[in-house]
Amino acid sequence: MGINKVAVIGAGQMGSGIAQVAAQAGCEVRLYDAESERVSRSLAGIEKQLSGGVAKGKWTQEQAEQARSRIRAAGSLQEAGEDADLIIEAIIENMNAKKTLLAELDSVASAQTILASNTSSLPVTELASVTGRPEQVIGMHFMNPVPVMKLVEVIRGLRTSDETYATVAELAERMGKTALEVRDFPGFVSNRILMPMINEAVYTLYEGVASAEAIDGVMRLGMNHPMGPLALADLIGLDTCLAIMETLHDGFGDSKYRPCPLLRSYVHAGWLGRKSGRGFYSYE
Ligand code: CAA
Repeated sequence: MGINKVAVIGAGQMGSGIAQVAAQAGCEVRLYDAESERVSRSLAGIEKQLSGGVAKGKWTQEQAEQARSRIRAAGSLQEAGEDADLIIEAIIENMNAKKTLLAELDSVASAQTILASNTSSLPVTELASVTGRPEQVIGMHFMNPVPVMKLVEVIRGLRTSDETYATVAELAERMGKTALEVRDFPGFVSNRILMPMINEAVYTLYEGVASAEAIDGVMRLGMNHPMGPLALADLIGLDTCLAIMETLHDGFGDSKYRPCPLLRSYVHAGWLGRKSGRGFYSYE
């Protein structure tokens, strides 16, 4: 089955990026968020991204306008999902919130619709268990910033069908991404490797080994990473980083995944990174 109609649920930084690349791949996109102002902000941001790309010669004005015209705000989950071939949820990284949403989507979507989660670490098999279509539930994990990063980590739950995998992988390729197949283990591959590194960088700061700038400088200049782990944590969101470390810790029961207390206290303080104006760095 080829995907033409995509619903994106959640208009934060990930949902916005996914809506943009889906529209640029030629799909009709419906964007829904429980907070409607987030959809307006997201559409304005996509508009800016698309016109920025025209100015840089990445695509033509006409292509930008066509992509923009394919994205529409939806007023309800029902409106977003009822005739979608694929629904991608990109809401908060919380098992209960995602299960509640997936159960609702299962009831509004048609029988053929594929339900994908952009979860960065939660078990896809467990998410699928609240639906009546576990063969059509899959993880479609985009990287931030979505329009730039070339990977989609595609996670197969235990019951995900070959057809669902092939359909989603084909769409990822149409979006200009490389789809890599991964089994359903805590943190998958990306965050099982990335997040302990970020957590260790936070411990290094917590223990006073070096300043945030020096820690990031070591990793940028010494390891050729495009940005240091603390700056990257700020980009991802410290609440998301903490949620992923907790999933690894719970999922493996191994103390090597314990979240750094400093990460936890920053999240409690509301210092969530770029999106809140302050994390390990200040963005005000
Ligand atoms: N949205 C769209 N495009 C963006 C962007 C954004 N938020 N931020 C940067 N870009 C684009 C810029 O427009 C620019 O495009 P051109 O080359 O066409 O002009 C390009 O990216 C480079 O940007 P800059 O020159 O401003 O800055 P940079 O060279 O430092 O690159 C970066 C910025 C792409 C973010 C780079 O630092 C990078 O690759 N960082 C690492 C990002 C990363 O590791 N992401 C994965 C995070 S993990 C994750 O997402 C999964 C998870 O579950 C936690």
